Parts: sequence; structure tokens; C-alpha cells
Amino acid sequence: MILGIETSCDETACALVDQDGKVRANVVSSQAELHARYGGVVPEVASRRHLELVVPVVRDALGEAGATLDDVDTVAVTQGPGLIGALLVGLQAAKAIAWSRHLPLAAVDHLHGHVSSLFLGEDALEPPFLCLLASGGHTLLLDVHEHARWTVLGSTRDDAAGEAFDKGARLLGLGYPGGAAIDRLARDGDGGSFSFPVARVDGLDFSFSGVKTALLYAVRELGDDVEARRADLAASYQRAIVRALVERTQEAAARVGAPRIAVVGGVAANSELRAALPEAVLAPLPLCTDNAAMIASASRYVEALPYPQYLGLDAYASAR
Ligand code: KG4
Ligand code: ZN
Repeated sequence: MILGIETSCDETACALVDQDGKVRANVVSSQAELHARYGGVVPEVASRRHLELVVPVVRDALGEAGATLDDVDTVAVTQGPGLIGALLVGLQAAKAIAWSRHLPLAAVDHLHGHVSSLFLGEDALEPPFLCLLASGGHTLLLDVHEHARWTVLGSTRDDAAGEAFDKGARLLGLGYPGGAAIDRLARDGDGGSFSFPVARVDGLDFSFSGVKTALLYAVRELGDDVEARRADLAASYQRAIVRALVERTQEAAARVGAPRIAVVGGVAANSELRAALPEAVLAPLPLCTDNAAMIASASRYVEALPYPQYLGLDAYASAR
């Protein structure tokens, strides 16, 4: 089995995955509540919490799989991109486990992890396909050629789609993280009641900073009436973001002649986005937001470093 660890942001996660992509355990401990009072992730707070949680989460995952470290033949861990302090906790934990057992260690890119959420289970997707990766930190259109090889066709010029959801939620007083809260509230609202234009930028890129400002102005204009219109605002805002994502994704697929469209990342959990792309392959809901099963999955397509070559491995903060 592969033991995967993910600590790039505010989820402490460990999973056990077979070489053939069967998920034996997938444990995610979210720190969202801890950060909610600050309205976003506080890096130092996240690192300290990962430190407390990483060993219990590994123990839980082994328990869930009915396994011990004797059953583990490779350790996989997110090396970046993400919060450096947070990444380092997972990386050091992974090194310690691998080193103590003389196991190889695979360093995984977080974005490769999200794409690899599609390669798990019985209906694992096979490349090539066009992939929309929409999360709190990234919005990318990828022409995926092989399990670990793709071309970037488009990305965001400013905010990521998940970031736009989170900032919108904050303006609507829905707390952090806001994507799921907007999704829920939008069900009671009319998505056609406000027009929030999303800027169309050149090529296959995205821009979400304008739509957030449009929501800000609408909220200001409504004043005391915001409360009564909150669901309509959420529904209209969500519709604007989803439409921009869907349009650009379909454009990209047409441009490269992709046989299939897939959607991954936290925003792939959005119900309106899922409904708007019925023909697409959608990451399973538990594997949309950050988890370690996707990291273990990705490790099958990268070369693991043999014991003890990985001891000097460092984390990286920005996408490579
Ligand atoms: O992939 P992820 O867990 O972390 C990153 O790698 O960034 O994505 C988290 C993002 C957050 O911005 C969150 O608000 C968003 O995914 N998200 C959603 C939904 N569930 C999570 N956005 C829209 N609708 C949802 N149902
Ligand atoms: Zn992520």
C-alpha cells in the first residue's frame, strides 16, 4: 500500500491506497473552524495544528484500513505548492516514517494530486482529457496527455474560483470557507435576479476579481435589504462564476479537440457546476477538496526517491 500525507493548507490528511488505485482509507481533519474566526487561513496557526494532528491522522488512516506500517511499501507526500510551514510538517512526518522503515518516498505536486483524484477507484479515467482544476488557490485549464504530463491552456489572472467563492461568502456574511455555504444558500435564491458580469479576458484565461467587486457594490446598494436578498445574491453570484468556468472549459475542450472533460478541486464540489457539465467526469465528492488519497494516487506516476535520498528534500510554495 501507499501511505499518502497532505498538509499544504488547512486540511491534515492521510490515506492508504493500493497500487491499483483502490482507496483503503481516506482520513481528512479540517482546521476550517479554527481559522473561521480570522476569515481565512492563518499560516502559523495552520502549521502548529498540523503538528498536533499529523500523527493521530496517520494512526486513524492505518486503523481505518486495518493495516500497520508493515503493509506500507511507499510513502507519498505533498511537496508544494502551498503554505511552506504547513507543507514542512507533512514532509517531515513522511520523511520520518519512510526513513524509520527504510521505504522509498515520493514527492508529489499538489496540482498533480488534484488531477490524480480522477485515477482512483473502479471507474478511473484514462488520459487524454481536458481538465478544469478549480480550487481555493488555482484555476487552471489543463490538456492532460498522460497521467503525469499536461499542457496548461489557461489560468486565472487574479483570484482563483474558490477564492472568489470565499470572498463572496465573506461579503454575504457566510463565514469561511464560503464555497459550500454559497452553494447551499443559492438553492433558495433566484440566480437571475442580479447580473454580475465576469470579465472575458483574452485566450483561455479567467478573471474573477471584477465579479467580486460587482457583488460588493450590490451589497452596499441594498443596505438594510441585504438580509432579505441574501439567497438571491448568492445564487446570482454563483451563476456568474459557474457560467464563466463552464464557458471557458467548453471552449478549451473544443480548441484542443479533447475527447472528454473532467473537473477537479474544491470548486468541483459545487452542485451548480456539476449540474452544468452533465457529460463531464467529475471528481468524486470526497476527493474534490484537499485529501491525501489523491496524493497517494499521483505518486504512482512519479519516481519515488529510494531510502535515504529524500532526507534533504525541501518544500516549495509556488506552482512549478
Ligand atoms: O481544493 P481545495 O480543498 O483547496 C485548495 O487546494 O485550494 O479547495 C478549497 C476551495 C475553497 O475556496 C472552497 O470555498 C471551495 O473550494 N469549495 C467550494 C465548494 N466546496 C468547496 N466552492 C464552491 N462550491 C462548493 N460546494
Ligand atoms: Zn487543493
